[in-house]
Amino acid sequence: MERIILRPRVTIERFVLSKQPEHAKGKLTELFYDIALAAKLIAVQTKKAALLGNGGYEDTINIQGEQQRTLDVYADDIFIKTNDHTGRLAAMVSEEQDSIIQIPKKYKRGNYILVYDPIDGSSNIDTNVTVGTIFGIYKIDDLNGDIPLETVLRPGKELIASGYIIYGTSTIFVYSTGDGVHGFTLDPEIGEFFLTHENLRFPEEPAYYSMNFGAYRNWDTGVQAFADWLRKTDEIKLSQRYIGSFVGDFHRNLLYGGVYAYPAERKYPNGKIRILYESAPMAFIAHNAGGYASDGTRPILEIKPDTLHQRSQLFIGNTSLVKKAESFIQRNNK
Ligand code: F6P
Repeated sequence: MERIILRPRVTIERFVLSKQPEHAKGKLTELFYDIALAAKLIAVQTKKAALLGNGGYEDTINIQGEQQRTLDVYADDIFIKTNDHTGRLAAMVSEEQDSIIQIPKKYKRGNYILVYDPIDGSSNIDTNVTVGTIFGIYKIDDLNGDIPLETVLRPGKELIASGYIIYGTSTIFVYSTGDGVHGFTLDPEIGEFFLTHENLRFPEEPAYYSMNFGAYRNWDTGVQAFADWLRKTDEIKLSQRYIGSFVGDFHRNLLYGGVYAYPAERKYPNGKIRILYESAPMAFIAHNAGGYASDGTRPILEIKPDTLHQRSQLFIGNTSLVKKAESFIQRNNK
């Protein structure tokens, strides 16, 4: 009889624990466990969105002026309820909430601030296309009273960890604590994330660019020049791929090399992507995978937002391509 050899499977918890410095062991791992739990709950809702009636819209408008989708509201609720009572967080910031989410007085507080976008790319839900979750983690010392705005308005370079979850053909959890970027795939039968993508890095040679060319006429001339270069260059062979789901586009570009850009345009004069809980956490991942993120003139990780929901232009992916965008923009701004 053939002997069955079991492939050792490393859970997200075991892996995070093994990567952490001795003094931090446990606490951050537990927070990752909570986020992974929220991700599993959201994954079930995305997989059954139409069956559960999660595809539609709510009557409510969020701080962004967007009509909230049922899944946005549901996923936000999952994040809050999974994290408000654990004693690990000092506060949360969500794309779906106008102000900082304070930890209720009846619960113990911890030292971490969790910033997140519960469902990124939610306009794709009805069409069964990939959506994602983005999160970032900051650490604070002072735990007295409600957490004020200044405490959470931090530049991405102060993140201690960030990650995203992609709800695609499988559910993948990607994170970094500054020590590489690692991906875990959810085994839906067991309900556990297992290590499948250790040490992800942007390949040297990029393969894709991802921009909404429908907005081309509304971009400024530097961005148009960059887009023209992407289309026409003989220096490298690039294909265009744009899902319109930031996490999905980023994940593909991380695996195959490429750049995702959301420049300023008429509808979004400052760019569309929010700094605190979208661009900065993804910039942290890009940086730790050998890539780079810029608003066209400066690194995203250096930007300290003035408000919770501030937006900026975003160019993120292979360093060579993002630097190219910066140089076209700089040249045309002169
Ligand atoms: O953050 C908002 C978002 O849904 C991103 O996930 C996505 O890349 C972008 O908007 C799509 O915008 P548009 O439809 O304008 O291309």
